[in-house]
Amino acid sequence: MPTHDLVIVANRLPVDARTLPDGATEWVTSPGGLVTAMESVMRTVDSGAWVGWHGTPGQAPEPFAADGMHLYPVPLSEQEVSRYYEGFSNGTLWPLYHDVIVDPEFHRTWWDAYVRANRRFAQAAVSATAPGGTIWVHDYQLQLVPELIRSARPDVRIGFFNHIPFPPVELFSQLPKRNQVLRGLLGADLVGFQRESDAMNFVAAVRHLLGYQVDQYTVTVPGIGSEPARQVTARSFPISIDTAAVSALTEDPALQERAAELRRELGEPAKIVLGVDRLDYTKGIRHRLKAWGELLDDGSIDPHDTVMIQVATPSRERVDAYRQLRDEVELTVGRINGDHAPIGRPAVSYQHRSFDRRDMTALYMASDVCLVTALRDGMNLVAKEYVASRPDLRGVLVLSEFAGAADELRAAILVNPHDIDELKAAILQALNMPEEEQEQAMLSLRRQVLDHDVQAWARAFLAELESVGAPGGGTPAP
Ligand code: ADP
Ligand code: G6P
Repeated sequence: MPTHDLVIVANRLPVDARTLPDGATEWVTSPGGLVTAMESVMRTVDSGAWVGWHGTPGQAPEPFAADGMHLYPVPLSEQEVSRYYEGFSNGTLWPLYHDVIVDPEFHRTWWDAYVRANRRFAQAAVSATAPGGTIWVHDYQLQLVPELIRSARPDVRIGFFNHIPFPPVELFSQLPKRNQVLRGLLGADLVGFQRESDAMNFVAAVRHLLGYQVDQYTVTVPGIGSEPARQVTARSFPISIDTAAVSALTEDPALQERAAELRRELGEPAKIVLGVDRLDYTKGIRHRLKAWGELLDDGSIDPHDTVMIQVATPSRERVDAYRQLRDEVELTVGRINGDHAPIGRPAVSYQHRSFDRRDMTALYMASDVCLVTALRDGMNLVAKEYVASRPDLRGVLVLSEFAGAADELRAAILVNPHDIDELKAAILQALNMPEEEQEQAMLSLRRQVLDHDVQAWARAFLAELESVGAPGGGTPAP
């Protein structure tokens, strides 16, 4: 097997394998912000490798190359998909790390599968990495991987980035096996988070639960036996988007025409309001629809001239909470349309499927308001994509203060989505905002997104990793 200087490890590969009716395999882009971000980073890296699952249970395909990346599929059995991926990752950690919006479930069999799967990912990463190379581990599904790599390969630099929030110690303490998880993460030389508050929560958990010495964002991990103590840095690195790629799309005349055509297809409404999310309970889709329904009920919005488009990518469809959410969202959309839609035009146009980058950008370009109402979100790239898609300086972003993006996008209309009255007021404010005000806000938002793209994010993380990680056991404690 060839080895690489930079190896990315994530639960998912950037592409998912789909079996076609004739038995052939088709590769499609995987869902979610992690893949959107890392794919654009890896396309600019020479001979980088990506280790991850290919999205279906059973045997893994042979390693293959795509878009200049070397992809190393990791197999997961049916039972591992159910216990490690749907179970411990998305039935335990995901809700716990997102403020327990739904109740996390704890099962020992799920934990056992999580440990087994983490070992397999770590092993695959170790085999793909050149001597003295760098391994960059991503997200909550793989928190044990840094320590597993360190024990096998003390010669490599190890970085970890958590794409989702890290919860306050009061919540994190509920997690059975919490200390194993912390020790797993501390195998890295650098642990990165989206927000400053996430990094603070992490070091607080390390101090309270493991009793390790913490100096601001530097943790001293005591050595075992003759091993010296090492230092681990925890810091925030807010992730971003491939701004140049989005900007290039907005200049394409075919996309500009597609945006105009979308408006025509919807009957040339005066205003289009857009929501784009994975169908996930963290995204606040129910709150958004409640606010929208009430605005229609009380006559504040006229469905003859204002349309909402809700794009909801299918996600984790075998997990109960996601099934329930889908049922509720579809019932609510049906009710709103039944009560308010004019004949031949929806009040809410609901799209339960994936769109390609071009269509997604055309949607952003066609929409007067973008609603990001997450109840908790690591960053939320949709907010940044919307801003990057508006070189015309038109459009208004309504943004939840519970999304990581709210730390940077201060010129958005910031809302607490739990307060339905506040949300309704914010939507009306956005719909009625004069053009000069839109321009002013959009200019400020765009400055932020244009100056801080995903390539700069990756460079900052890797430069910090280079400076803190000394191959051969990490930075020794002074
Ligand atoms: P998360 O990572 O939780 O899904 P983000 O907002 O950070 O949330 O990232 C979502 C990414 O997925 C964005 O790049 C967005 O454009 C993309 N996306 C969301 N819905 C769709 C869809 N229906 N089709 C294609 N891409 C989508
Ligand atoms: C978020 C997570 C990613 C995950 C993505 C899609 O972005 O941070 O780790 O890959 O959602 O979720 P899925 O479960 O389909 O991989």
